[in-house]
Amino acid sequence: MSGRPSTSSTPVAHNALPPPSTTSASRSSRIAPHSHIKGLGLNPEGYANVDSAGFIGQTNAREACGVVVDLVKSRKFSGRALLLVGAPGTGKTALALAISQELGTKVPFCPMVGSEVYSTEVKKTEVLAEAFRRAIGLRIKETKEVYEGEVTELTPTEAENPLSGYGKTVSHVIVGLKTVKGTKQLRLDPSIYESILKEKITVGDVIYIEANTGAVKRVGRSDAYASSYDLESETYVPLPKADVHKRKELVQDVTLGDLDAANARPQGGQDIMSVMGSLMKSGRTEVTEKLRKEVNKVVKGYVDQGVAEVVPGVVFIDEVHMLDIECFTYLNALLESPMAPTVILATNRGNSLVRGTTDIVAPHGIPIDLLDRCLIVKTDSYTTADVAKVVQVRANVEGLKLGTGVLDKLAGEGDRSSLRYALQLLTPASILATIAGREQIELEDINEMGSLFIDAKTSASSITTSETYLS
Ligand SMILES: Nc1ncnc2c1ncn2[C@@H]1O[C@H](COP(=O)(O)OP(=O)(O)OP(=O)(O)O)[C@@H](O)[C@H]1O
Ligand SMILES: [Mg+2]
Repeated sequence: MSGRPSTSSTPVAHNALPPPSTTSASRSSRIAPHSHIKGLGLNPEGYANVDSAGFIGQTNAREACGVVVDLVKSRKFSGRALLLVGAPGTGKTALALAISQELGTKVPFCPMVGSEVYSTEVKKTEVLAEAFRRAIGLRIKETKEVYEGEVTELTPTEAENPLSGYGKTVSHVIVGLKTVKGTKQLRLDPSIYESILKEKITVGDVIYIEANTGAVKRVGRSDAYASSYDLESETYVPLPKADVHKRKELVQDVTLGDLDAANARPQGGQDIMSVMGSLMKSGRTEVTEKLRKEVNKVVKGYVDQGVAEVVPGVVFIDEVHMLDIECFTYLNALLESPMAPTVILATNRGNSLVRGTTDIVAPHGIPIDLLDRCLIVKTDSYTTADVAKVVQVRANVEGLKLGTGVLDKLAGEGDRSSLRYALQLLTPASILATIAGREQIELEDINEMGSLFIDAKTSASSITTSETYLS
C-alpha cells in the first residue's frame, strides 16, 4: 500500500472514521429503529392521515389499531386479542408501539418477545403469567390529611439533653405555614425536623406535611420569591389556595406484577400501603400462584371499598409463532381469566408448524382455537412511493441530508428487497459521505453500500445457486 503514489483522488479507507467518543452524549443521541413513530396518526374521526405521527401509509391497519385503542380506553377489550400479521418489515412492531403511545403512560403496556419464555430458571407459563400481571394496573386513590403552605417560620426549639449534661437536643420545631386563606403555626416533633433538614427546606418553600405519618414533601419555591434571573433550576409554585389544614387526594399507579414482587419477599405485608413502601427494594423470591390469589383478594377488597381502581393494560407478544403449544393453551386460559389485559400478538409467519408439535400445521403457527379468539389485522406491503416517504422520515430523524436521486434509488431498493433493507443502508451510507467530507449522502454512497451489503433476497438466491459455501 505504501508504495502507491498518492493522488488527490485516492479512495478513502472504509474504516477511516475516528472512533466515536465515549461520552454519555453519544449514548443519548442513539436512535432506535422506531424512534420516528410518535403514534398512530389518526384524525379525531378515527381515519388515518396518509402521513402523520411518523407513520406512512398502512392506513387500514392503523385505523383498525385506532379502534382497538378506543376499545381499550373504554375498557371493552379486556380478555381479547388482536393479531397483527404481515410480511417482515411491514410495520407490525411499529404499530404495536404506536398503540402504546396512543394509550399514554397511565395505561400499563408490557412488551415481550415470544422467545422470552424459554428461560432455564423460570417456567414458560410463569413468564407469561408474570407479563399478564404486569399489564394490569391499579390506581390507588388515597385521601390524606395534610398541612400545606408556604413556610414563613422555621424555628427549632432546643432544650437541655435530659440524659446527659452535655449539649442540647431539639425538643420541638415551630413551623409557620401560609396559604391564600390564612396562616397556621404548627408545633412539631423533632423527627419531622430531621426530614425538613433532609429535604433542605427553608423559609419561602411550599411544602406539605402528612398528618398521620409526618412525611414532609417539598413542592417547590413560592412564586413570591422568584427572582428575575432566567437561569434557575428551581421550580416555582403559586401560594396554595385552600386552608393550611386540609384533605388532599393522592393518586398512585402500580401494577399487580409490582404488588406480587413486593409481596414475594418474606417481610412483605398484606396491606397495600406497606407493599407500596417496599416496592423499590430488590431481591425477591418466587411468586407463587397462592401469593397471587392473596394479592388479588387484597386488591379486590380495596376495589370494593372504592380506594383503588383496576386499569387493564396491554400485553404485546411480538414474534408470537415462537411460543409452543403449552404456552398457547395457557394463553387461552389467561385470556379467559376475569382480570385479563388486552393482548396484542404479532407474527410474520404464514402456514407453519406449531412449535412443540410434530404434525399440527396452522396459519401463522398459531393453533386454531387461539386464532378463533383473535381479531386479525393484516399489514400490506409498501409501494415504492411509501418506501420513499418512510426513508425520508428516517433521514430527517437521523439528521441526514439526501442528494438528488438518492431517495428514488433507496425506494427502488426497498421495493425490490424490503423496507428494512432500504432503511438499513441509510446510516452506513451517511458514514461514507462523512468520510468523503460531504454533508449529503450521494448516489455513489448508496451504490457502494449496495455492493458491500447484500439484501436478504440476493443472499438467499446466492445460496440456492451455489448450493453450499463449503464446496
Ligand atoms: N408505515 C410506516 N411508516 C413509517 N415507518 C415504518 C412503517 N412501517 C414500518 N416502518 C419502519 O420500518 C422498520 C421495520 O418495521 P417493523 O420492525 O415494524 O416491521 P415488522 O412488521 O415488525 O417486521 P418483522 O415481521 O420482521 O418483525 C421499522 O424501523 C419501522 O419503524
Ligand atoms: Mg417486528
